[in-house]
Amino acid sequence: MYSICSKKSLAPGINEIKINAPEIAQKAKTGQFVIVIVDEKGERIPLTLADWNPVKNTIKLIFQEVGHSTNTLAELKVGDSIQAVLGPLGKPTEIKNVGTIVCIGGGVGIAEVYPVSRAFKNEGNEVIGIIGARSKNLIFLEKEMKDTCDQFYVTTDDGTYGQKGLVTEVLNKLFQANKHIDLVYAIGPVPMMAAVSEATRPLKIKTVVNLNPIMVDATGMCGACRVTVGGKTYFGCVDGPEFDGHLVDFKELKSRLNLFKEQEECLNKRCPSKRAKNE
Ligand SMILES: Cc1cc2nc3c(=O)[nH]c(=O)nc-3n(C[C@H](O)[C@H](O)[C@H](O)COP(=O)(O)OP(=O)(O)OC[C@H]3O[C@@H](n4cnc5c(N)ncnc54)[C@H](O)[C@@H]3O)c2cc1C
Ligand code: FES
Repeated sequence: MYSICSKKSLAPGINEIKINAPEIAQKAKTGQFVIVIVDEKGERIPLTLADWNPVKNTIKLIFQEVGHSTNTLAELKVGDSIQAVLGPLGKPTEIKNVGTIVCIGGGVGIAEVYPVSRAFKNEGNEVIGIIGARSKNLIFLEKEMKDTCDQFYVTTDDGTYGQKGLVTEVLNKLFQANKHIDLVYAIGPVPMMAAVSEATRPLKIKTVVNLNPIMVDATGMCGACRVTVGGKTYFGCVDGPEFDGHLVDFKELKSRLNLFKEQEECLNKRCPSKRAKNE
């Protein structure tokens, strides 16, 4: 069992928890994830390592309440235990000095882009950060990103904070200003990662996207996380989760994410979270 040693709300429906997990904290690398099984009847859900502390033996997860497992996880309090946390899994981000990197995080992807931005910065790169969300109240880790990045931008879809519009609009402005960019890294909703990849394609700027296919075993055995990249089949859990954005079949990824919609809705109705019951 893995005990929760701290918990806080970062934004409506977005929580940060720290868990005692010595083996994972010792081995974690940027870009890796864990599989969480919340309770004895729980399914396996992948969550990115938002941070880790090998001295205190803790890992940090930031997750959005979107369905049964994440709602159940959100109900746990400090001192409660999680049934299982497995990892670190997936290939780490290739962190090296490439020059100027634009790191883009959308929605809960903001949690995941922060450790990547920090690692690229520590490697001596110029890092331009862009984070975006639907509205001001869904922006988090702003100070951390601002302190890490050489240039930093916030966008909101409704214009309640930062620049009104999408993260790709800021990216396009950088292109229009002839800013030299060596690499773009994007993590967030599938349409956002697809749009970023389309924006960089004509300029031939290498673009790494961090994919979120449905995962089950996360060890390369079941095939649930299959993605098509450059016409070939890869497993997101062991070959990824990062891939070349110019080669990813985003249309297929989007449709595969909806494979279990009916079952997910059915489960949410049958076992509503405490929060849903009170609504
Ligand atoms: C490598 C990886 C890292 C991730 N990191 C984070 C993170 O740091 N924070 C975060 O909030 N979310 C993260 N996700 C997404 C997270 O795993 C899903 O939101 C979660 O599994 C939803 O489960 P649920 O039961 O709460 O919701 P459900 O009602 O079961 O599903 C809601 C939606 O989440 C997606 N989903 C469902 N089950 C899975 C699954 N087993 N694997 C992947 N996606 C699924 C589907 O699109 C589904 O429609 C990550 C996904 C991957 C693949
Ligand atoms: S989740 Fe089963 S092969 Fe990747």
